[in-house]
Amino acid sequence: MLTPAFTAQLRDALMAADFTVGAISALIGDDAQRALMRNQSTPARRRTGDGSPLSTLTRLFSLQVPVSRTDADRALPGLVDPMCVAGMLQGSVGEVNARVDVRPYGDEDHDWWIVCDLTPGLDHSSGSGQAGSRRVDPEHVLGISEASSSLAQLTIRRDVGSALDLGTGCGVQALHLASHARTVVGTDVNPRALAMARLTAALNEVDIDFRTGSLFDPVRGETFDLIATNPPFVVSPATGERLIYRDSGLPGDEVVRRVVTQAPAHLNPDGWCQILANWIHLKGEPWQERVTGWLEPTGVDAWVLQREVADLPTYVEMWLADAGLQDAPDYIQRYDNWLSWFDDQGIEGIGFGWLCLNKAGRDKPVLRLEDWPYEIAQPLGPHIAAWGDRMDAIEGLGDDALLASRLRHAADVVQETVGPVGADDPEHIVVRLQRGVRRARPVDTVEAGLLGASDGELSVGQILDALASLLDTVAAETRTTYLPKVRELLNEGFLTL
Ligand SMILES: C[S@@+](CC[C@H](N)C(=O)[O-])C[C@H]1O[C@@H](n2cnc3c(N)ncnc32)[C@H](O)[C@@H]1O
Repeated sequence: MLTPAFTAQLRDALMAADFTVGAISALIGDDAQRALMRNQSTPARRRTGDGSPLSTLTRLFSLQVPVSRTDADRALPGLVDPMCVAGMLQGSVGEVNARVDVRPYGDEDHDWWIVCDLTPGLDHSSGSGQAGSRRVDPEHVLGISEASSSLAQLTIRRDVGSALDLGTGCGVQALHLASHARTVVGTDVNPRALAMARLTAALNEVDIDFRTGSLFDPVRGETFDLIATNPPFVVSPATGERLIYRDSGLPGDEVVRRVVTQAPAHLNPDGWCQILANWIHLKGEPWQERVTGWLEPTGVDAWVLQREVADLPTYVEMWLADAGLQDAPDYIQRYDNWLSWFDDQGIEGIGFGWLCLNKAGRDKPVLRLEDWPYEIAQPLGPHIAAWGDRMDAIEGLGDDALLASRLRHAADVVQETVGPVGADDPEHIVVRLQRGVRRARPVDTVEAGLLGASDGELSVGQILDALASLLDTVAAETRTTYLPKVRELLNEGFLTL
């Protein structure tokens, strides 16, 4: 199937039909688009069906609707038979169905296509082409999920030499990585996923080295500048059948522990590894202790954001529904078994979040682990990179050097004050960054004054002395009290060097 002639012909057909995110959006409209995101195809069906190649491809792949052979031949000239032979399409009397999804996908700079399995649960179907069954196939290859999009936006997009997408699935992260890495390796244990990822890459004319194998086995002895991974992190007893796109086959959060502890050996100096993950909350143990226990021995810097914590019933319900098991006869048994296993393990919740590891090579690695359930401004990638840059700049910066530094406040910092109407002084001052994780921080008058005056003209020492004289405090004491706060403001990105 993957002959260059076949992929070129398919690519030409998709391009000729303008089968892109933007064109589909314009065709079906915003409300039908939103309905589709809720797995409902009816509104979009009503806006397609005029037999144009764009309508036909949208119905065939995005809406999983059979199209007439005539329409299919018009949209995919000369391709219907070979795609049927390859198992991408299925022909019946005068009609053609999709067996896999070819999905337009893009970012600001690219229009791509992703080859993956059909969306399960669309209008309550299984996505496996088998009517009546909602069960997801164990070898199902995931398309673009919320998780894949958030990892794509979290990933640092600086030009690098080499990148690794561990657990590539349909190849979406590898595709992004290929836009800024000279070489990209994508790995997976699922041969179906690799076949689809290869087709994804070929359709988009990008060169990716796909390899079969578990975790870091296929890249033994190799190092990378950037690793992006959305591993199969669902926390379960790992005793039942395995949905390979989400279950690692390892119990609990062992797969995440392995990725976190093994990744640093596969990073070049100053390389980054960015991971989407779940981790266990054990009774009586703060989650930070568990994750720090993985990170500390590796010697990397890490910024870890816990985005949410799921209670156990919510977690189990979510993943049973994801597997299409809501109506299974043994639903209650499965639910109960999963909760019993959580009880036995002393697990009281499951954290979800992002780990960004940087092989900065510091004597004293910086570990920042925080709960961050708040609204953020994606893409976060540039802000993760900027955090690493700040840690480099701050390293070894003694107090005298810091006092002599001419700092600038971040361009996106705003100040919010709260207090009684008409009062001279506010009761509370909060400074808030508008971008990245949109960090907010309560500050006092001195910190607010320091931030306001930091425009690169005066040194920290000069500003602190001026504030001390304005507020009638002792200059030396002000310096001693506020230098640690200046470091925090730098660390958190309110100030830059
Ligand atoms: C959650 S999906 C992520 C797919 C894609 N990278 C994305 O971001 O959407 C996890 C992928 O890891 C693969 N996988 C499962 N176990 C693995 C293992 N032990 N080693 C490598 N990949 C594995 C699955 O086949 C699946 O494609």
